[in-house]
Amino acid sequence: MEIYIVDDYQQLSMKAANFVASQVILKKNTVLGLATGSTPEGMYSRLVQMNHEGIVDFSKVITFNLDEYLGLASEHPQSYHFYMYNHFLAHINIAPQNTHILPGITGDIKKTCREYEQKIREAGGIDLQILGIGINGHIGFNEPGSFLKVQTHLMGLTKETIVANSRFFPTLADVPRQALTMGMGAILQAKRILLLANGKSKARAIQEMVNGRVTTAVPASFLQLHRNLTLVLDKEAASLLP
Ligand code: F6R
Repeated sequence: MEIYIVDDYQQLSMKAANFVASQVILKKNTVLGLATGSTPEGMYSRLVQMNHEGIVDFSKVITFNLDEYLGLASEHPQSYHFYMYNHFLAHINIAPQNTHILPGITGDIKKTCREYEQKIREAGGIDLQILGIGINGHIGFNEPGSFLKVQTHLMGLTKETIVANSRFFPTLADVPRQALTMGMGAILQAKRILLLANGKSKARAIQEMVNGRVTTAVPASFLQLHRNLTLVLDKEAASLLP
């Protein structure tokens, strides 16, 4: 595990964007696993800039998003579809057919999950998976519990996650209670993983992830088993590390 600790969010975003750009420059048809949330916003914004400056070309890149809220249509402003297009995909030269996001509205959840797994396999698996981390140690929407699932699946969100994500919704009652998420399998099978975290609220999860036991109570702790994991943290998120 490689850990970079930077001074602030601006530096975190720059470093993360350089990391992703160097991957895409080296391998034009990189398969990227994408995360949403507040943490990678600055990274996406810098990558858009780098694309416009001609530094990085996304025309051959394939993307798979980690998760989507169940029940939110892609036009819903809080859907992860909306987020991804708004912050990144609509502003770069990526081919729309190369972008994949789990649907928030689907008639057959099991089939949708199976097909998503199949598409990831057909693309050859994920080259670089970008991750944030929940304050409870979740990755994607693989929430803490007595077990974790390997495959893409439907997940009930924990109270902690619902409260944390309510900042984006008018009221707590508006936050979806369930989401579709890639499982631990596709994440851990990614060739490289880049995890970003900033702010004091993430310090405990980062400390448990880096130094704690490997346990389903902290899904991110399983990343300790990955052979090519890079963390980019700001000082606050790293503040509980020895
Ligand atoms: C988002 C995702 C989540 C977030 C995590 C942190 O696609 O998979 O695991 O990465 O909840 O979210 P932020 O960055 O908003 O603190």
